[in-house]
Amino acid sequence: MLNTRPLHPGFGIEVVGLDLSSPGSAAAIDEMVRMLDTHALILVRNQTLTNQRHVEISRQFGPLLTHVLKQFLTTDLPEIYVLSNVQEDGKPLGNHKEGWNWHSDLSYVEEPSMGSLLYAVEVPPVGADTLFSSMQLAYESLPIAMQERIRDLTATHSYLGYYGKAFADRAPLSDEQKARTPDVVHPIVRTHPTTGRLSLYVGQDIVKAINGLPQAEGDALLAQLNAHAINSASIYRHVWQKGDLVVWDNRSTMHCATPYDDDTYRRVMHRTTVAGTRPF
Ligand code: SIN
Repeated sequence: MLNTRPLHPGFGIEVVGLDLSSPGSAAAIDEMVRMLDTHALILVRNQTLTNQRHVEISRQFGPLLTHVLKQFLTTDLPEIYVLSNVQEDGKPLGNHKEGWNWHSDLSYVEEPSMGSLLYAVEVPPVGADTLFSSMQLAYESLPIAMQERIRDLTATHSYLGYYGKAFADRAPLSDEQKARTPDVVHPIVRTHPTTGRLSLYVGQDIVKAINGLPQAEGDALLAQLNAHAINSASIYRHVWQKGDLVVWDNRSTMHCATPYDDDTYRRVMHRTTVAGTRPF
């Protein structure tokens, strides 16, 4: 039985007194895998993880995906996607300003990630918090009339559209990267495959349009749903410490990175991304 405490009244827990560095923690990780379905976000502080160990822990949650931006798979293991403002030998160590918008990881593929494990290697002393929103609380707190209005709607998610907005100053995606990321359609209300609980499934920038509505009406609805989803009642703000491992369920949460003084401070984060299934 893990020792836990809540992070937010509606979702998220911290597991205390756990050392994930040894293979002896396998049973505890199995318990974390089960807890993710209901708690949606799990924090374990004060970890010292090798890349190998980070990947081993992640694999207990499921098979791992490799990111389409291969230039940021800069560790010895391709399963680790590096997020960083650091340059080494004139080359970026990781993707800077990744995730500075509300999103659920890899929503732009047919079978989006079920969960992500983000490990803090180096963090600035101030700033760069990550905000998490429970999309289950967001859905459940919508007026019933709105729940009914959106129940069968779908949205188009576009990596190309996101990339163009987030990284307009960079070289465009290669043909191979574009071929790996065609636009996809997902429901805007999704069912958690294990618990059956419903979530809003929207987001900023990656979600291009709500289908079946005139563009202006769809855009207004998307803006309204996004604003509702990121209201303070459903948000947990994570203030990172070096050695934190945060695991989140991409099927029932969105998250958003926040800025920091990136001219002064270094930030190095390692993310693994667990395969998921088609949303329904
Ligand atoms: C992410 O969007 O996966 C990363 C969030 C962060 O860097 O805080």
